[in-house]
Amino acid sequence: MLQSCDTMQPQTNGTNGTMSSSILITGGAGYIGSHTVAVLLEASTPHELVVVDNLSNAHREQGQKKPESLRIVEELTGKNIHFYDADIRDAEKLSEIFNKHNIECVIHFAALKAVGESVDKPLEYYQVNISGTCTLFDVMRKHGVYKLVYSSSCTVYGEPRKLPIDEAHPTGLGLTSPYGKSKYFCEEIMKDICRSDPKWTVVSLRYFNPVGAHLSGRIGEDPAGTPNNLMPYISQVAVGRLPELQVFGNNYQTSDGTGVRDYIHVVDLAAGHERAVRLLQQPGASGFHAVNLGTGVGYSVLQMIKAFEEASGRKIPYKIVGRRPGDISENYADVSLSHRLLGWRATRTLEDMCRDTWRWQSAHPNGFKS
Ligand SMILES: NC(=O)c1ccc[n+]([C@@H]2O[C@H](COP(=O)([O-])OP(=O)(O)OC[C@H]3O[C@@H](n4cnc5c(N)ncnc54)[C@H](O)[C@@H]3O)[C@@H](O)[C@H]2O)c1
Repeated sequence: MLQSCDTMQPQTNGTNGTMSSSILITGGAGYIGSHTVAVLLEASTPHELVVVDNLSNAHREQGQKKPESLRIVEELTGKNIHFYDADIRDAEKLSEIFNKHNIECVIHFAALKAVGESVDKPLEYYQVNISGTCTLFDVMRKHGVYKLVYSSSCTVYGEPRKLPIDEAHPTGLGLTSPYGKSKYFCEEIMKDICRSDPKWTVVSLRYFNPVGAHLSGRIGEDPAGTPNNLMPYISQVAVGRLPELQVFGNNYQTSDGTGVRDYIHVVDLAAGHERAVRLLQQPGASGFHAVNLGTGVGYSVLQMIKAFEEASGRKIPYKIVGRRPGDISENYADVSLSHRLLGWRATRTLEDMCRDTWRWQSAHPNGFKS
């Protein structure tokens, strides 16, 4: 029998006994998921929030029922989150959750996400990111739920043919990692199911580079092992967990020769999900919509280091090494569609991103683990 970590009773609105409408959030204990849960609760969403996460990349303290990230979000917001320790590949468990809650739409974050690891473990990546996603869609369909926000990535664009990259840019060409391909394949699957049945509405959010942390400094990015991404690497160097940063290449065609990326504050990104949920609820909404979530501005690795040194007051030792295979020189988003379709734009600056990352990292040198 499936147990949520709060109550075994179906959720009712307390007045006429009907079940409250819920949003199912897969992978909601992770970095972006937990910030999205926080933003939805802070925005007083009328929905109950139901999180499914198998804790493969989230930490739960011994003796606790909920993962640390969600336990803290409950503390910060004073609101309850329904949590299930479950795997998206487990159709039976998912079905029980759909039976228990009146799920209106799904935000699907759950995935494996380490690009390098995906090259060594392609099958694991395809099993979770593609098979798991298809299992979820099948369960949704069986329960008459056709509204979805999907976590996609600017990785689907491969090497940019023009900058800024807009959503009409070709996808799927020259993708080098199983991770990137899994995001592209899932988008193709979602396009097909939307074509097959107009009841489906999918907003596929193509994230650029999420960084930063909640303003409280109590939740943030907590990568397992050595970070793959620049910002958590820099912040672990700043806090003394790692000795120095390696900068991969300084001979790109950019202002200072180092790679340029579009970094977006995770709280802005989370707010984009809240807007996407609103879009799903609009009468007549239908079909597949891919939308970039970025700031439209690129910063180089050296600019990021300098901004982080200023925010933290710490020196970041670094060494220039050779380029990494598969890395591109420059990447930033055309964000006009997100303004038009979602009425959303990123408002937080690079200084905010560095300051908020540092607030989290300096207070939690070892992440969520006590
Ligand atoms: N962080 C980034 O830089 C970035 C960029 C682009 C896209 N994305 C996508 O955004 C989503 C969220 O990323 P994140 O950075 O928050 O990652 P994360 O690893 O912090 O969160 C993912 C969560 O999913 C859970 N999970 C993994 N496999 C699962 C399974 N089989 N069943 C149930 N739960 C499972 C993990 O335990 C984790 O809590 C992912 O789909 C990722 O591919 C992330």
